[in-house]
Amino acid sequence: NSWEYIKTEVTGEKKNVAVITLNRPKALNALCNGLMLELSTALKSYGKDQSIAAIVLTGSEKAFAAGADIKEMAPNTYSQCIQGNFLNDWTEVARTQKPIIAAVNGYALGGGCELAMMCDIIYAGDKAKFGQPEIALGTIPGAGGTQRLTRVVGKSKAMEMCLTGNMINATEAEKVGLVSKVIPADQLLGEAVKLGEKIGTHSSLIVQLCKEAVNTAYETTLQEGLKFERRTFHATFSTADRKEGMQAFVDKRPANFKNE
Ligand code: HXC
Repeated sequence: NSWEYIKTEVTGEKKNVAVITLNRPKALNALCNGLMLELSTALKSYGKDQSIAAIVLTGSEKAFAAGADIKEMAPNTYSQCIQGNFLNDWTEVARTQKPIIAAVNGYALGGGCELAMMCDIIYAGDKAKFGQPEIALGTIPGAGGTQRLTRVVGKSKAMEMCLTGNMINATEAEKVGLVSKVIPADQLLGEAVKLGEKIGTHSSLIVQLCKEAVNTAYETTLQEGLKFERRTFHATFSTADRKEGMQAFVDKRPANFKNE
């Protein structure tokens, strides 16, 4: 595939981890409409590809993404935003059924931070910086910065970030639970791929159910979430992979999952 704003490759020992690299260096990977369209196209195609176990989304050493494209968005009017359904292309990331890991080096600002938060797991390079600077542009976050961030880091920290526009560094992002690990910048992508490979050793069918169950914690009440989890747990008992996983334990051998 020939992309203008992204690069894609399939990697890992079993060639089962897809890496999508945002590649618009002149604008610090500002997320213009063309880039978001390519990203959602690539995600849809990897999402359907049975040989892909996990997807890694990354940027450059200097920027994961410096936000929505301010220059492109500046002339928008209210009615254009509404009628053009502005940001509709952004939802594909959160809709992907496969695990998606953000490997964030450098700036993840505004829409860049929101894009990272749409992913399932965030690994940060030690020079990463996260922020929601929209307030300084006279607007507010539009793709989860006031919602996902608040659920992840709590009200006080999210308010502070959204109302000041101040950035937090990788160490602080780990402390508040926004990222699950901080890694030296030059090892970040390798570690993210290893994480994808580890997930890829499990049944992709069960991984998908598990991802849905964790996401349900963000989308509904505790009571509804627990009910969904219990029923989904029960549902695994109808799969060949659940039988195989438990039998393999009893037999003291590695499981051989068939993803069914
Ligand atoms: C368009 C951008 C951009 C952006 C950087 N560039 N961020 N273009 N949209 N979000 C461009 C610059 O204009 C410049 O182009 C080139 O990238 C390099 O950027 P510099 O500013 O020269 O780099 P530096 O001095 O190192 O500063 C880095 C930075 C700064 C701190 C990240 O670029 C910055 O503050 N960017 C904007 C961050 C931001 O406000 N993001 C939120 C956007 S609003 P030229 O042509 O001059 O070389 C948003 C809303 C989301 O995301 C709503 C829902 C999706």
